[in-house]
Formats: sequence, structure tokens, C-alpha cells
Amino acid sequence: MKQHSQAKMKLAQTIVAELKAKMIVGLGAGSTVLCVVEALKNCAHAEMQVVVASLETLEACKHHGIEAELMKSVAYIDLYIDGADEVDPGFLCIKGRGGAMTGEKICAEMAKSFVVLIDESKKVGYLGQKWPVVPLEVVPWARSSVGRSIVKMGAVPELREKKSDLGNDIIDCHGFNLSEPFALASALSQLTGVVSHGLFLEPRPNRVLCSDGQNVYDLSKV
Ligand code: A5P
Repeated sequence: MKQHSQAKMKLAQTIVAELKAKMIVGLGAGSTVLCVVEALKNCAHAEMQVVVASLETLEACKHHGIEAELMKSVAYIDLYIDGADEVDPGFLCIKGRGGAMTGEKICAEMAKSFVVLIDESKKVGYLGQKWPVVPLEVVPWARSSVGRSIVKMGAVPELREKKSDLGNDIIDCHGFNLSEPFALASALSQLTGVVSHGLFLEPRPNRVLCSDGQNVYDLSKV
């Protein structure tokens, strides 16, 4: 655990050191992003604009005196920074353990550059290797119909108690066959009432920074 939090802090410091004045910086959600917020508070870049993907991240920014808004206030993002639950060798990701994947996907689509920060435990050989769960954000009226479709598609749906930032339901799908992620993502997107899912295939990060707690290395270069 300690090694994971050290890794997150190192990753956060590394990416914050790369930020430049006048950039529109997007921040995702989750504990890694909260470390980025922490690192950002000590590095006041005049004229840098911060936009966020979740209400929790917005709150954290406010708490640290960092001016931030939701992504809907801007037309594009220069650099979007986020965590992930799994990243495969082609940078396909599973995200959404924190239920914020809709905001995160909007930001990723608006971004000129999308960087994901992970500790080594999130690096996998194939999607579903360690975290075989695909979260879905679903409009409440479709909760039952989507749940039934998930069962027909071979997975086990589990409704979370906590709603999304947008007031929708979150359904965790356990045990999907993830050997063809693009086909699965397309099938999930076609279910009526699904707002978004946690498969980040397109857009996916163009850069992934990974840390073992001691060093940070760029997976795009190894
Ligand atoms: C939030 O919904 C997620 O997509 C997070 O980005 C992802 O779960 C990684 O979170 P941690 O940084 O807390 O591991």
C-alpha cells in the first residue's frame, strides 16, 4: 500500500513538473489524480487553466485553493491527466472503479494529449487480467433492462449503491470475456440507457507513465 502511494506521489510530481503556463490542463478522478492536485498546489502556474472530470476532483482543487471548473467550460484540453485500473501493452485501459468514467471519457475526447499515470500493479498483459470488471453508467430507468442484457452477454451485473456525479446508476459487470474489447465496447454502447462504459479504447492514452515507487518510467519509450 505504502509503495502504491509513493508511486502515485512520484508520478504526480513528474507530470506537474512538465506543466507550462497557458496550458489548459484536465484532471480525471481517483486517488492518483488527487495526488496530482496535491502536487499542483505547490506549483502555482499563472495563466494555467484547470478543468476537471469529476465533482470529487473539483472539491479537492477548491480545498487546495486551485481554481478549477468542469470540462464543459472549455473547448479543448491541452493535456489530460488521469489514472486507470488496468493498462495493456497497447495502452487500452479499463477505468471507472471510482464511477467517474463519463466525465473522464468526455475529457479524454477533448484532449490533445492524454497521459495516464499508473503504479506497476495496473500494468497488465491483457485487459481483465487483474481487474476483470467493466463499470457502466446507466440512466436509472434502464437499470433492469441493461442488467438483463449483461447477463445474456455472459457477465454478472452488480449495482453500486453510490450514484454517478450525473445522478445515474453505476453497474459493475463482472466476468466479461475481454478477448475482443472493441466488439464488447461497441455492444455495450448500443444498449439503450448506457451512458458510458469503463473501456477506454478510443480515445486511449497516447502516453503512460508508470512507477514502482522509486522511479518513474515512460511506457511509450520502453
Ligand atoms: C475513476 O472513476 C477511475 O477511472 C480512476 O481513474 C481509476 O479507477 C484509477 O483510480 P486510482 O487512481 O484511485 O487508482
